Amino acid sequence: MSHRLVTLNQFVVEGQKDFPCSEGKLTRLLSDIGAAAKVITREVRKAGLVDIIGSHGTTNIQGEDVQKLDIYANQTLISFLRSGGECAVIASEEDDDIIVVEDAYDFTDPKYVVTMDPLDGSSNIDVNASIGTIFSIYKRVSKQGKASREDALQKGSEQVAAGYVIYGSSTMLVLTTGNGVNGFTLDPSIGEFCLSHPNIKMSPEGFIFSVNEQNYHSFDKGVKKFIDYCKDEDADSKRPYRARYIGSLVADFHRNLLKGGIFMYPSTEGAPKGKLRLVYECNPIAFIAEQAGGRATNGTVRVLDIKPTELHQRVPFAVGSENLMDQLNTHLMAWG
Ligand code: AHG
Ligand code: MN
Ligand code: MN
Repeated sequence: MSHRLVTLNQFVVEGQKDFPCSEGKLTRLLSDIGAAAKVITREVRKAGLVDIIGSHGTTNIQGEDVQKLDIYANQTLISFLRSGGECAVIASEEDDDIIVVEDAYDFTDPKYVVTMDPLDGSSNIDVNASIGTIFSIYKRVSKQGKASREDALQKGSEQVAAGYVIYGSSTMLVLTTGNGVNGFTLDPSIGEFCLSHPNIKMSPEGFIFSVNEQNYHSFDKGVKKFIDYCKDEDADSKRPYRARYIGSLVADFHRNLLKGGIFMYPSTEGAPKGKLRLVYECNPIAFIAEQAGGRATNGTVRVLDIKPTELHQRVPFAVGSENLMDQLNTHLMAWG
């Protein structure tokens, strides 16, 4: 029997029946994000041929050198979210404060909040390694008037959807709306994201560990002991551990989602609160991980239970397969 082609939009519309009160607003919002991802893909695929790589010559609130593709991805996503009319407010890695989508209020009653990292793994753009876009979607909690910062500072457990796009050997959009995780690969010949990885599950037994060992010297003792455990060949010969680190959260996580494994960005001397941002990197990835059977903590508590206080706040981050998250926890409990 030929494999039925299911596009992202068809899949989300068919999924609407799981939400009896659905009015198609989330469907429209997801379709806007999918469309933006196609436009960003077009520029990513030309990177190196057109003046879209390299530094923009500015630094963002993170104090990081902004890449041209960071700006392009941010502007593209904001433009699609503005025109879609379903988004009340945006919190982006590339903008100091929230962006209230003013014009949406003129013609609709926008209900949704989008937090996003428009271009993740920017340091990989110039070397043609995989990069990504990460997003979370919440229902606004503010009742009247325009959306506020509080709408973007909800606990990750309140997400109604989360996803990422990985611009790799192919462009793939991985999405959860709270009923499992599904992967859609962009078919450039028809310009559609097509269901390619239905019902993704993260193996409860992973053997890949992904961490920037440059920071080993400043990790907490328990983290060091866990890394030593992964590298100790004698500990348990049937453990064929492998170290992999791409330096792009989306790519490092995506590999572990499909093959099992753990990704860690612990607190370091240079980043005492961790490097990754809770609101638009850790929460969406944590939601996807849990929906696929994995776990995500900041070393002590579940990431989705952390109440954000700042838009750009950083947290230590560990996400992955059950066996490895258990092992990490055992070492942290023993050594702190
Ligand atoms: P961004 O490009 O959005 O700033 O994110 C980069 C992050 C993340 O993608 C990756 O896991 C991490 O930075 C890599 O940090 P190091 O280079 O310090 O390992
Ligand atoms: Mn990022
Ligand atoms: Mn980024």
